Amino acid sequence: ELASIGVVGMAVMGSNLARNFASHGHRVAIFNRSYEKTEKVMAEHGEEGGFIAARTPEELVASLEKPRRIMMMVKAGAATDATIETFVPLLEDGDILIDGGNAYYKDTQRREVALRDKGIHFVGVGVSGGEEGALHGPSIMPGGSAHSYEFLGPLLEDISAKFNGEPCCTYIGTDGAGHFVKMVHNGIEYSDMQGIGEAFSLLRAAGLSVPEISDIFREWNTGELDSYLIEITSEVLDQVDAKTGKPLIDVVVDAAGQKGTGTWTAQIALELSVDLNAIAESVFARSVSSSPDLRAALQPLLQGPDQTIAVEDRAAFVEDVRQALWASKVVAYSQGLDLIRVGAKEYGWEIDVAAVAKIWRAGCIIRAKLLDRISNEYAANSLTNLLEAPSLVEDMGNVQAGWRRTLGQAIAAGVPTPVFSAALAYYDSARSPRLPAFLIQGQRDFFGAHTYRRVDEEGTFHIEWSGDRSESKVD
Ligand code: 6PG
Repeated sequence: ELASIGVVGMAVMGSNLARNFASHGHRVAIFNRSYEKTEKVMAEHGEEGGFIAARTPEELVASLEKPRRIMMMVKAGAATDATIETFVPLLEDGDILIDGGNAYYKDTQRREVALRDKGIHFVGVGVSGGEEGALHGPSIMPGGSAHSYEFLGPLLEDISAKFNGEPCCTYIGTDGAGHFVKMVHNGIEYSDMQGIGEAFSLLRAAGLSVPEISDIFREWNTGELDSYLIEITSEVLDQVDAKTGKPLIDVVVDAAGQKGTGTWTAQIALELSVDLNAIAESVFARSVSSSPDLRAALQPLLQGPDQTIAVEDRAAFVEDVRQALWASKVVAYSQGLDLIRVGAKEYGWEIDVAAVAKIWRAGCIIRAKLLDRISNEYAANSLTNLLEAPSLVEDMGNVQAGWRRTLGQAIAAGVPTPVFSAALAYYDSARSPRLPAFLIQGQRDFFGAHTYRRVDEEGTFHIEWSGDRSESKVD
């Protein structure tokens, strides 16, 4: 019996996805560059469903029904190109080659064009949810041709996470759209994580113990902040180091790693002129944490307050921090979704933002109660930006005082809060009737005759700054 799908790459994500297909009753052919890994998967999980263990790429291809569906779960970058080169000569018109890694969407666009010329559908698919998600139901963001989704969609929807019975998988858009949306998901993931870190820093600066902070996160997880990342934060905080008896977090080096997706999100925002400052700050926060030379040079030198916050009313302080975290989260989501809106326009994708928010409600790393609300807001209103949503206008208005108090205390105490601060700057910029950009325009016209526009007349203008300072209309 032929297999419905092939999975290439038997590292943990690949083997877990293969097991997910198998446990849903799909016959799945598996292949890994070294056969030992395939054998190991067979030995440990072969009983879970209908697997075909292929020793060679040829065997894998021969074991698949047509049009063939092959999902690559290999390291993004060179390994993906090498795998494509291996399989393309073996495939036929109409076959579907899927990249389920965290590929850079511009690579996906390039690969899609190259394979389209050969009659092969190349489908870039964002897969979120980590190892557990891959096994039990990830959130899946497929791009590529709409035609390929007809063949592939039902399989992916079947293995995806479900929210109230609805699959967390929907067709996103052509070529790199799926990987673009996954990239933005990860950018939001970065800011969610950094925001949680900032809340932790503030609570600790106020003298709370790690177990107390863990309990606060657990409490927050029952309300508006309900989310997977808040939930696992409590678990991470609860972990006690076996060697020292201290909270594990106190013996973990404070240098955050990254594999690229957050950085790409910030880069593309710059490229497309989208204000994504909260997410970008979360990327920079990882960069500064991972700059040992810079930190070693400056840490002993730079002066300032001692990063403790004297709190009179603990409950009120905790509530302010919660509001700052929630508001910053809303801003980061609005920035990420705005990048999707602008990216879709740039690349001609018809992305339904409500549908994206819907498939993020379960399975993925950023799954959160807020996403249900966001998808409802987008479905009910025609929004340019999430912050326009009537219920959010109101709630952001209600939390902003607590958010400002939190930042006032953070700044006075010297606790760094790059995401909270950037998010508030965004909020205040967006609500400002006038921004000092008028002054920048004046300066630009002064030193470079770059011209400016007037509030009361059409056209562009220039002042003869080094002459009689008269204004002329340029066009
Ligand atoms: C997910 C995660 C996953 C991966 C990230 C981590 O959605 O399941 O985002 O894709 O864990 O790539 O990225 P960093 O290593 O850059 O933190």
